[in-house]
Amino acid sequence: MNTPELERIARAMVAPGKGILAADESTGTIKKRFDKIKVQSTEESRRAYRDMLFTAPGAADFVSGVILYDETLRQKCADGTPFPAYLTSLGIVPGIKVDAGAKPLAGFPGETVTEGLDGLRERLQEYHGLGARFAKWRAVIDVGDGIPSRFAIKANAHALARYAALCQEAGIVPIVEPEVLMDGDHTIERCEQVTSTTLQTVFDVLYAHRVHLEGIVLKPNMVIAGKKCAAQASPGQVAEATVRCLKRHVPAAVPGIAFLSGGQSEAQATEHLSLMNALGSLPWELTFSYGRALQATALETWAGKDANVAAAQRQFHKRARLNGLARTGDYKPAMEKEAA
Ligand code: 13P
Repeated sequence: MNTPELERIARAMVAPGKGILAADESTGTIKKRFDKIKVQSTEESRRAYRDMLFTAPGAADFVSGVILYDETLRQKCADGTPFPAYLTSLGIVPGIKVDAGAKPLAGFPGETVTEGLDGLRERLQEYHGLGARFAKWRAVIDVGDGIPSRFAIKANAHALARYAALCQEAGIVPIVEPEVLMDGDHTIERCEQVTSTTLQTVFDVLYAHRVHLEGIVLKPNMVIAGKKCAAQASPGQVAEATVRCLKRHVPAAVPGIAFLSGGQSEAQATEHLSLMNALGSLPWELTFSYGRALQATALETWAGKDANVAAAQRQFHKRARLNGLARTGDYKPAMEKEAA
């Protein structure tokens, strides 16, 4: 294992002032996003959309890495440059989603385990050859009546650790993503409890699997009430609970934590990150790896039309810039009104 190289990549992914763009929607997920803007999902429309994001002028100032999907890793900019080579030329690290999705866990109704380990060693070698220097694997923990079970958390943690070890063997930094969903009606306290158990279990298994902690990036959910919960916590409470939970469970050896947005609005996700960084004295970089919370407005503005590309790029740039400010706690909600 080339640990200095893994550490160098991991630090670049969580570089100050920047964060990660999650543009790794599977073909099924991007179709759902395109359905909302009434755009047909074809290989070319998916390429054109990603091209719009990646070539947004100035965005590289705030983007350290981009997570790609298998198809996207093989696609090219309009001028014929492969996306990974183009991103690398801007100093952006290309990454690749390698899991095959969360599938029902037999014997555990309502729970899932993420698949994709078979043949992963060979796929990682190919992805490295195509320019990917980090990978992502998402485990999904749903919260509801009687779930999650300890067993489902353990099964998901075990898969994450096997994935992470294989990535490091291949010279690829694993993003370790155990997502506790915010879809339910659970309270913030329940989210903190489940996130605590999940992180503790994940780090136990990473340690047991000899994963080099300085060469990973953790991608967790924030500690937040379920969307359907009547009692929504204030932004300050979310920031405080999230940092408290992470400090209890994430070793200081981990270089950075890059949050998923998980269904929060763009402004919410930025404000929460900013408030956390404003708390100060954290042992790791605290950054973003947002999908929806970086793309929502840009996607709507683009609407599948070439004529809207420049306006959509300005929206993406604004979102990336505001999240860049959140890296130092300097974002203010009033900034949402600024022109893109
Ligand atoms: P969201 O920020 O939209 O949750 O997506 C991030 C991601 O990569 C989920 O796996």
